[in-house]
This record gives sequence, structure tokens and C-alpha cells, in this order.
Amino acid sequence: MYSEEKFPKDFLWGGAIAANQAEGAYLEDGKGLSIADGFPDGFRGRFDYPLQENTYYPSHEAIDFYHHYKEDLALMEGMHFNAFRTSIAWSRIFPNGDETEPNEKGLQFYDDLFDEMLKRGMEPVITLSHYETPMHLAMEYGGWTNRKLIDYFLRFCRVVFERYGKKVKYWMTFNEINNMRRTPRNAGAVFVKPEENLDQAIYQASHHMFVASALAVKLGHEMMPGAKIGGMFSLSNVYPNTCNPQDVFETLELRRSSLFFSDVMMRGKYPKYIYRIWDQKNVNVQMEEGDLEIIAQYPCDYLAFSYYRSTTHVYGEPFCGHTGGDQGTPNPYLQSTPWGWQIDPLGFRYTLNELYDRYQKPLFVVENGLGQIDEIAEDGKIHDEYRINYTREHIRAMKEAIKDGVELMGYTYWGPIDIISAGTGEMKKRYGFIYVDKDNEGHGTLKRMKKDSYDWYAKVIKSNGEDLD
Ligand code: BG6
Repeated sequence: MYSEEKFPKDFLWGGAIAANQAEGAYLEDGKGLSIADGFPDGFRGRFDYPLQENTYYPSHEAIDFYHHYKEDLALMEGMHFNAFRTSIAWSRIFPNGDETEPNEKGLQFYDDLFDEMLKRGMEPVITLSHYETPMHLAMEYGGWTNRKLIDYFLRFCRVVFERYGKKVKYWMTFNEINNMRRTPRNAGAVFVKPEENLDQAIYQASHHMFVASALAVKLGHEMMPGAKIGGMFSLSNVYPNTCNPQDVFETLELRRSSLFFSDVMMRGKYPKYIYRIWDQKNVNVQMEEGDLEIIAQYPCDYLAFSYYRSTTHVYGEPFCGHTGGDQGTPNPYLQSTPWGWQIDPLGFRYTLNELYDRYQKPLFVVENGLGQIDEIAEDGKIHDEYRINYTREHIRAMKEAIKDGVELMGYTYWGPIDIISAGTGEMKKRYGFIYVDKDNEGHGTLKRMKKDSYDWYAKVIKSNGEDLD
């Protein structure tokens, strides 16, 4: 037998959330506003600054993980997680982003949180920036279009590496950085005026983020020997709608506009195809001397990515993208969720192979999951067979990819506990194995309850992915 038949013994199994979608406590213990706090309807909708009176902003309380984390992590331990992914809210540590001294209470919160994870047998897997740039840096500095953010970000990194370096081994720099090209407000705190060249702002900001990410890798390796620092990308799949060469070629171009980000961060250099795109879009990225060397010297250690679904592309048809990946023309062979997300486990195996072929670096699936409407049945329980089926088929796909030769570090299911949706701000779009009593308007007791999928996932992890029934 040549091929690997099983998940590796040290495979990381768990779940993933983000601070702004779970913690709440949006101004508690000295936290400053982040951009996430200004979206009443999620990142696809309106943005308010200043915040409006009598408006419900979902991130302000979210599921109050800030005060419930012990109870929540105990529930994760019940599913045998050995890894848990979350982000550090930058504005808890530096409320405005440009201070020289960090906020001790914010630092203490993550000390306590990471201690609790470790106590319960979970490796913290930490995103440094998950759509939650401090509001002040967005509004006063222009977000990542401003080169000064590199210094502020590195100051933040230095503080958290120093403080948590002994507790946290797995880090990621920017969540889904390739969403810069479609949703730059949340991905890079880029808010442009209508008369400005949006593409110019996107690629300039991305360049600053590439330099910042590379310098964070450098700093992290210096300060925390043995730490693994990954790049994180949204890489749900896209197929040509037909074998018409025009569909096929334009799909390649679309995919490349996303893979551009991982090309830079994993290979350490700008791919040549981007120059033609910049010419077409009238983009002229300002770089400083030494930037390209920094990017070349400090690529990411592993490729972390999210995969939720797939879509297709028809030549010349409009294409959009939000959370969950690109969205084009529906695929007649696939089923959709109520949010139009098409379920495609084989596309997952395809993507795992595609990425490993392209980079030959370890992969880490840090987001995958099913957002669905859950109903409480007459027996008071939630029978979410659909979530079990989705997850089972995606775990099977990973297993097949491992047999294909893909090097895979772990799997953290997105939203193991219901949290607010990044795209729409809803609670109704639930991913969790654990239900949280809260609705779209913010009403509810916040009580937690296990769904049927809870015991199923616990069994899967306990058997290291062998028992999927
Ligand atoms: C990813 C994000 O794009 O998709 C998460 O990293 C997000 O923050 C997830 O929650 C699912 O998207 P949504 O819109 O269903 O929350």
C-alpha cells in the first residue's frame, strides 16, 4: 500500500469562530470600535460611522462569548476538540490601533481564553486580523491603503507574540485576504469615495498587507521558535459552466484573480499575470525599496483556507463574491442551501488537490460548514441530519484527498456554535453543533443547547475521522 489511508495521528480537529462574530462586549474592558461594529446587516450591507441611534448592530453582543467562553469551551471539549480557532480582536489590544501602549485588560482576556483552551486539550489556532481592523485606523488613516498600518499591525503582532508565544503555536495573518478583490471594506478596511479608482485602492492596500504579513512571519519566527504562521484564503471552487473554451479560459482568469493572493504569500513573489490585470485596471502600486525582498524571504509556512461551496462561470456573465467564496451561475448538478450556497464535497477534494499541486505546502482547512435554518422539533431538540450529511461528505472528501497525496494539517469546522453571520449579520443562518437561543433581532436567552450533530461530530473526532456513520 503506497497511499495514506487514514488521517494523520496528530491531525488537528476542531472548530473555528471569529472574535467579532462571537464575543460581543464590544466596548467592554477598554475595547475600541472595530469596523465590524459598524455593519447592522453584515458585511454585505450598509456601513455606519458614526453609529446610529436605535439601530441593532449584531456584533455588539453577538453570542456574548466574552462572558460564556468557559461554558462554550467545555462544550467543545465534549466533542474532543484538540484545536480551536478564533481571532484576537485587534481593538481590544489597541483600541484605536495607533496607541503605543496596549490595553492590559484586553490582553488578560486572551490570556484567560487561551489558558482555558489549553486546559481543555485544545491548541489555540489564532487569526491576527479577521475582518476587524480598528475603526479609527479605517476612518482616520484610510485602512490598509495607508502604509502606516504596517507599523501599527506589527506593533500589535509584537505584543501578542510576546504575550502568547508560549501558548499559541498556530497563527494566521489576515483572514481570507483574497476577499480584498471583492469585499475590500471588511477584508482591508478600504472605504473609497465613488470618484476614486477602487482597484487602485484594493491592490495598494493588498501590497501593504503582503508586506505586513511577511514581516509578521519574520517577527513570529524570531520571537517564537517553532511557531507556524499561515496565510488564509477563501478558496471555494469555480468550474467553467461548459467546455466552451471561452468559459474555460475566463474561469482560469477568475480563479487566478483569487489565487493571486496565495501566489504572492506562499511563493513569495508577484506572479507575472497580475501586471496585465493592473494595466487593464489602470493600477499603479507604489512599492518601497526592499518590499519585494521581504515578500520573497518570508512566505507563509502553511496555507489555511475556507471552502464552503462551488459555482460555475459562463463567459461574459457577471460574477460576484461575498463570504463563502465566489458566486456565478448555478450548477444544475448541485443542491443549494436557502442562501444559494451550492453543496459540493467533490469540489472540496478538487480544491485540496489543486492547492497542494500548486504550492506543495501543508494545507489547513480552517473553515468549512453548513449554514442552515434550524427548527426546534416537538421533542425540544434539533435534528440536523442535513448538517451531519454535509460534514460527513466533506470529511470523506478530505480523506480521499489525503489518499491522493495531499498533506493536510487539520480541519476546524466553521461555527461549531451558532454565531452571527459575517455576510448578513443574521443568527438565523446557523452553522453550529450547538444552538444558541438568539434571533435576528437580538432577542433570546443566549442559552446553549446541543443539536444532534454534536454527538456525531464528537464520535468522528474520537475515532480520528474513521467513524463517519
Ligand atoms: C468566511 C468568513 O468568509 O465565511 C467567516 O471567514 C464567515 O467570517 C464565513 O462567517 C461564513 O459566511 P457567513 O456569511 O455565512 O457568515
